[in-house]
Amino acid sequence: MRVRILGIGMGPRHVTVEVADALRGCDYAVAVRKRDDDGLLALRRSVCDAFGVPLVTVADPERDRDDPADYPAAVADWHEARAVAFERVLVERGGTAAFLVWGDPSLYDSTLRIVERIAARGRTPVEYDVLPGISAPQILAARHGIVLHEVGRPVHVTPARRLREAVEAGQDNLVVMLGGRHGFEGLEDWTIWWGANLGTASEELVAGRLGDVRPDIDAARRRARDGAGWVMDTALLRRAS
Ligand SMILES: C[S@@+](CC[C@H](N)C(=O)[O-])C[C@H]1O[C@@H](n2cnc3c(N)ncnc32)[C@H](O)[C@@H]1O
Repeated sequence: MRVRILGIGMGPRHVTVEVADALRGCDYAVAVRKRDDDGLLALRRSVCDAFGVPLVTVADPERDRDDPADYPAAVADWHEARAVAFERVLVERGGTAAFLVWGDPSLYDSTLRIVERIAARGRTPVEYDVLPGISAPQILAARHGIVLHEVGRPVHVTPARRLREAVEAGQDNLVVMLGGRHGFEGLEDWTIWWGANLGTASEELVAGRLGDVRPDIDAARRRARDGAGWVMDTALLRRAS
């Protein structure tokens, strides 16, 4: 049993030659099916169609998303449930399976941990490897024509829910992901380079002083959601010097 964890960027146009070759050699691809996520599943399906691989979908187990008191425990439970669901498919089908990862597997993605769990459960021997994809911050930087940091300076990558503590700790150049409901209050004088649905037909970009462009971001976010039926955004925030 072999699993190939493949970064697919934001859809077929971002699939690298290396990942395309790997996909063509797989017997099938596996992807989760979320209730509110059909647009993203459709993009994964288009990758499979483009490279001639059948897609097997697995219903995504329920997850406590309402800021649970013990966030790591809630995520661990969800990973275990996903591992069980994926393991079932692998055992039934055997062969070589592709796990299609949105963007790159190294950045805010649970696939690698879930496959490690399947291997650790020991019910089925699993060999796996990982191939990189193009991640949202890379597309954000390319679209705005910027480097993510100033010369020789760091960039801090954070989920939006931890933005406040990062700023309080002195971070002044941050890539913010997993936005959801979390805002940028108090950072009106910072510069933002923002993008939603990057790399897709409903892509939106806004840049400027946050206090000035906030309404533009809100409007662009709505357009992205209306266009695609889903919205994901990433931003670079830099304290004004
Ligand atoms: C679960 S993480 C996946 C990140 C992905 N593995 C990557 O390499 O970019 C989802 C978050 O990535 C960012 N993201 C993913 N796709 C995006 C897109 N097309 N446009 C803007 N941000 C995106 C958003 O911050 C979103 O909340």
